Amino acid sequence: MAFASKTVFKAASGITRVSSRNTSSAPKVALLGASGGIGQPLGLLLKTNPNVASLALYDIANTPGVAADLSHIDSKAKVTSHTGPNELHAALEGADVIVIPAGVPRKPGMTRDDLFNVNAGIVRDLAEAAAKIVPKAFVAIITNPVNSTVPIAAEVYKNNGVFDPARIFGVTTLDVVRSQAFVAELKGLDVNKTVVPVIGGHSGVTIIPLLSQVQPSAQFSKAEIEALTARIQDAGTEVVKAKAGAGSATLSMAFAGARFVQALIDGLQGRKNVQCSYVQSDVVKGVEYFSTPLELGPNGVEKILGYGKLSAYEESLVQAAVPELQKNIAKGVKFIKG
Ligand code: NAD
Ligand code: LMR
Repeated sequence: MAFASKTVFKAASGITRVSSRNTSSAPKVALLGASGGIGQPLGLLLKTNPNVASLALYDIANTPGVAADLSHIDSKAKVTSHTGPNELHAALEGADVIVIPAGVPRKPGMTRDDLFNVNAGIVRDLAEAAAKIVPKAFVAIITNPVNSTVPIAAEVYKNNGVFDPARIFGVTTLDVVRSQAFVAELKGLDVNKTVVPVIGGHSGVTIIPLLSQVQPSAQFSKAEIEALTARIQDAGTEVVKAKAGAGSATLSMAFAGARFVQALIDGLQGRKNVQCSYVQSDVVKGVEYFSTPLELGPNGVEKILGYGKLSAYEESLVQAAVPELQKNIAKGVKFIKG
C-alpha cells in the first residue's frame, strides 16, 4: 500500500492512522445536517482540511449563517450554502463524498434505537436524493441508529438500481477514537501510536473493541478487559448523561468524522489505507452488515480484511452482538421494503 503521508502508523491489525496532507486533486464534500451539533464543528474541520476543494453545507435550517461564518476562514475549500429540499440537488451535485449527520440525537434514558422513528425517514430521503444525483459518491452515515440507517440507505440505493456495497459506510470511527484514548491513558502509551480495532456495529453490545489486538502490544488483566470493554460500549451514553439533555457527542464525533472523511479522500486519491467501518459484509454468518478493518481505495472498500484471531472473550462478544445486529438490520430493511 502506498501512503503519501509523512506520519503513518501501521499496526499488525493493518489499521493505519494517517495525518492530513496536501494533495493536488480536489474533491467535493457534501455535509448533510451541517447546522447541527456535529455538523458545525465537522464543517469547520472540513473547511480547514487542505484536501477539500469544495464544501457544500446542507441543512433544513440555519445553513446561511453557518456557511457565512465558515466562508470567512482563509483556507482553500469553497463553501456553499443549501437550505431545504429544493436546494438538496445543488448540494449533492458533483459530490465525491457525502457525510450525513442529519437527525436527532439522544437524550438521557434513550437508546439509539429510540431515534429510529425520526431518523430513518431523514436518512431515507437524503439517500434517495444521493442515489439519483451522485450514485457513485462515497456515503458516510453518522446518523443513529447506524446499525439500521446503513441498511436503510443500502435498500434505497438497491431500489434505484445503483447499490454498490463498497461505497456506503456507517461511521464507527468514534468507537475507535475512544478506544485509543482510553487504552493509551490506562496503559501510559503514546496515544498517537495506539491502534485499537473495533468491530461489530455502533450501539451497546454490538460495539466490540479488540483489546487482544492493541498496538503497540499491551497486557490487560481480565478485570481491565471487562471494564474497558464496558466503558467503550457505554461511552456514548457517558456523554449523553454528562450533557444532561443537551444532546450527545458532537466535538469528538466531528473529530472522528473528519478523520474518516480524510481516509475516504485518501482512498479516492489512490492512497490506500485501512479503517474500521460498518458496511455490507459476510465476515459473520447471518449478519449482513458488520464493521471490521477495511482497505479503502479509489473504489471505496477495496478489501474487507476481517478481524483476525479473537480471544475467547471477544468471540463471546461477537456472539452477543449477532442477535442485536440482526434485529437492527431487519428493522432498517423492513422500513424500506415494507
Ligand atoms: P443536532 O440535532 O445537533 O443536529 C442535527 C442537524 O440535522 C440539525 O441541524 C437539523 O436541522 C438537521 N436535520 C434534521 N433533519 C434534516 C434533514 N431532513 N435534512 C438535513 N438536515 C436535517 O444533532 P447532532 O448532535 O449533530 O447528532 C446528529 C446525529 O448523529 C444523531 O442521530 C446522533 O445520534 C448521531 N451521532 C452519531 C455518532 C456516531 O458515532 N455515528 C456520534 C454522535 C452522534
Ligand atoms: C455516540 O456514540 O456518542 C453516538 O452514537 C451518540 C449517542 O447517542 O451515544
